[in-house]
Formats: sequence, structure tokens, C-alpha cells
Amino acid sequence: MSDTRGVVKYIEENKEEYLEALREFLSIPSVSTQSDRKKDVAAAAAFVARRLRAMGLKAMVHKTAKHPIVTAEYLKAEGKPTALVYGHFDVQPPEPLEKWTSPPFEPTVRAGKIYARGASDDKGQMFTHILAAEAYLKTGQELPINLKFLFEGEEEIGSPNLVPFIRQHKKDLAADYVVISDTAQFDRNLPAINYGLRGITGFEITLTGPNRDLHSGSYGGAIANPIHVLAEMVAKMHDKRGRVAVPGFYKDVLPLQAWERKAFKALGDGDPVVLKQTGSPNLYGEKGFSSYERKWARPTLEVNGIGGGYQGEGGKTVIPSTAFAKVTMRLVPNQDPKKIQKKFKKFVQDICPDTVRLTFEVSEQGAGAVLVNTDSEGMSAAKRAIKRGFGKEPVLVREGGSIPVVLAFKQILKCDSLLLGWGLLDDNIHSPNEKFSVRDFYRGIKTSALFMEELAASKS
Ligand code: BES
Ligand code: MN
Ligand code: MN
Repeated sequence: MSDTRGVVKYIEENKEEYLEALREFLSIPSVSTQSDRKKDVAAAAAFVARRLRAMGLKAMVHKTAKHPIVTAEYLKAEGKPTALVYGHFDVQPPEPLEKWTSPPFEPTVRAGKIYARGASDDKGQMFTHILAAEAYLKTGQELPINLKFLFEGEEEIGSPNLVPFIRQHKKDLAADYVVISDTAQFDRNLPAINYGLRGITGFEITLTGPNRDLHSGSYGGAIANPIHVLAEMVAKMHDKRGRVAVPGFYKDVLPLQAWERKAFKALGDGDPVVLKQTGSPNLYGEKGFSSYERKWARPTLEVNGIGGGYQGEGGKTVIPSTAFAKVTMRLVPNQDPKKIQKKFKKFVQDICPDTVRLTFEVSEQGAGAVLVNTDSEGMSAAKRAIKRGFGKEPVLVREGGSIPVVLAFKQILKCDSLLLGWGLLDDNIHSPNEKFSVRDFYRGIKTSALFMEELAASKS
């Protein structure tokens, strides 16, 4: 058995260097959605590959149609389980820049938290697994398990090139478990393991009325205003009970199991938590479900952005030519994104009057939701490691966000993911002032090291 004590001590002694390295990683503006940041996404891939090589691994950077993929492996623990660590080095756009206290790509530590875009989602979290493996190798030990790394630069755009890559490299990526740190703890002093993620799919709806913006006095009252039409259509997307009104939307929805409703209740009342975290004046949602149930296990439709007409200073008396809405849905098991896309298209066509022309586009193919086995050997090993690393037994929760590739791991590699989140729900991921607790960064590194030991000790 490996000397994990020496590893933990090594981690303790190298905290400062780890934070310095994380700062360097976070300084790279690897925004996958912005085409002028392509070089920066590649630079983030190179950073990851360099660190893996420096610890003695043969890391590979694979080109794709868009952003690169980084892989590496260390397979010397004969007869022991294999874990595939997945993470993403791309980040969300930092805008609006003026809302940041310190610039998004100039990592700054304040009150024990490191502030930067990607600090929690996902650079800070994915890096913990690299540093844990490094600690074994730098203390002259072999890893207690077989370890594979798979890092991508396209998570925030739905992993379009990673899924085919997994299909192509199915054999090389084979593992007993996928390990992912890209979620959150339940609370500041309560770690969590996620056993479910929602899926996602996205659309863009554009309505065109007149062939140009018109004088609203000359023509107002005689033709339809696309913004009014769009607003009416959006209003029809939910019914009075807060349910999505698309026919057949709930047809394949896997109901919450009795044990889940009980377990979510045992976590306490989520309503005040959601109010406090969001600052909203009141709650809203599907009748008959608690806040946790609504967020984690029920499907939704959201308008993410709406626009059209004059947005500048002062007034402008026009009937706009066009109006648009960007829509995403969060899906749950066993909804099929393709089927849902068809149903939504038909619904939008049906509610669209003939006073405007409709363009309907699937902007995000998306991915289905996923649930993982809650009583595998890997799950038990992760629980033991978290108990040792964070000092508390983790709670089992689901997550409302999506990690598109997780279903592909399950379907293509036939491999369950262990979602071990070191972040916090108020880390401001995708928002200004994203942060990651420095303490959780260190606890994540330690827990990853302990997880390898615990998994090695389990029968598999
Ligand atoms: N790490 C998040 C998923 C997540 C969100 C985990 C909230 C825990 C709490 C991931 O990077 C993400 O943002 N996914 C996107 C995927 C989409 C852009 C295809 C999402 O859920 O919106
Ligand atoms: Mn993420
Ligand atoms: Mn994200």
C-alpha cells in the first residue's frame, strides 16, 4: 500500500506553489464561445499538457475541429481499478467586465478566496486531480490506481468534438469510473456527491414582420409588431401551474423516487436557501414540488435573452422589423433532446400567428440528463475519501446544471461518473466575481489523493 501520509505531507508543504500555478492557469482567458480567444484556449491546453509532462506523464494534445483535447495516462497499478479524470479548461465569457472587483483574468486572493473567471468552473477544480497525482510521483511513489486524464476546451459550448473523440478512442479511455470535479458542495461545511445532472438543449426563435423598422405613427395599428407577437408566444410557453406547456413535454419524465423525495427533505427546507442565494423577492416554480426537486429533478424551459427594436438612448418611434428570443431547456431522465426539439418546434409553429415570419433554429443540440449508481464501490471509496479530506461525510444530491459529456461516458464507455464537487453554490460561476475557496482547493487536492488510495483498497 502506498504511503499516502507522505503524499498528504507533500501537499501541505507545496500549497504556495500550487496557488501560484493556479494563478498562472487562471490568467489564460480561455473563453471557448468567443472566436478571438481560440489561441487562449489552446494556451490553456498547453499549460495542462506541460504540467502533466513535468510530472513524468506522456501527455498528448489532440487537435479537433475547434478546441483541443488533452489526454495522459499512468497505468502501473496492475490488478487495481482504473479511474478516468475528466475536466474542462475552457471558461465562460467574463462579461459584464465592469461588475468585477478585480479583472477576471488577473487572479486575486481576497479573504481566502481566489477570484478569476474559471476559478471554480472548472480550472481550479480540475487542477486538483493533476496535483494529487503529481504529489504521488514527486514523492517517489507509484499511483495506487491506474489513472487516465481527459481534459477538454469545449464544455461550455456543449462538448461537440469530445463526444466523437470518446467514440473513436473508446478502448484507450476505458475505465471503471470517471471522476469529475465540476460541481458544488451542498454548503460551506457540508460536502456533496452528485448522483444526477440535468440535460440541456437550446433554441433561437426569430420573428420578422415588416422588411425594415417602420415609423410607428405611419404604420402603427395596421401591421403586427414582432415584439408584441413574441411576448405573447413566450407567455404561452408555461401554464398557470408553472408547467411547460409544450404538448408531450413531460411524457418521458422519470418521476422522483420516494427515497429521493425523502432524502431531499432531510437536507432541510430549500426555499429560504434559494431566496437567500438569489436575492429574488419570491419563489416560483412547478406546483407540487419543493425548490430542490424543481432545481434538480424537474425539467424546465427558460428564455435566456430577448431582443428587438430600439435599445439606445432616448426614444425612437418605430415598429421593429424583427424580434428574437434565446431559449434553453433543462431536461431530466429519460427525456430525449431530439424528441423534445421536434415537439417544441411544432409548438412554436402552432402558436405563431401569420402576421410574422418565423425562423426556428436548434442552437444547442445539447445532451440528455444522467443518473449514476449510488451504491458502487467507487461511490463508497469517494465517500470515505471526502470524509477524510473534508472532515465530514458527504450528502448525496442532484444538480440542475449540465455537463454534456457525462451521458456519453455512460452510453459509450459504459462507465459511471463520480461527481465530486469542491466548489460552492455561491462561487458565482458564469457570473461576475467568480471565486474558489483556497482552502477547498487544497482540500480537493488532498481528497483526490486519498480517493486513489481508497479506490485501490476497494474490491472492484
Ligand atoms: N460546471 C457546470 C455545470 C454545473 C452548473 C455544475 C452548476 C454545478 C452547478 C458546467 O461547466 C456548465 O456550466 N455547463 C453548462 C453546459 C451548457 C453550456 C452546454 C450548463 O449547465 O449551462
Ligand atoms: Mn464546469
Ligand atoms: Mn460552466
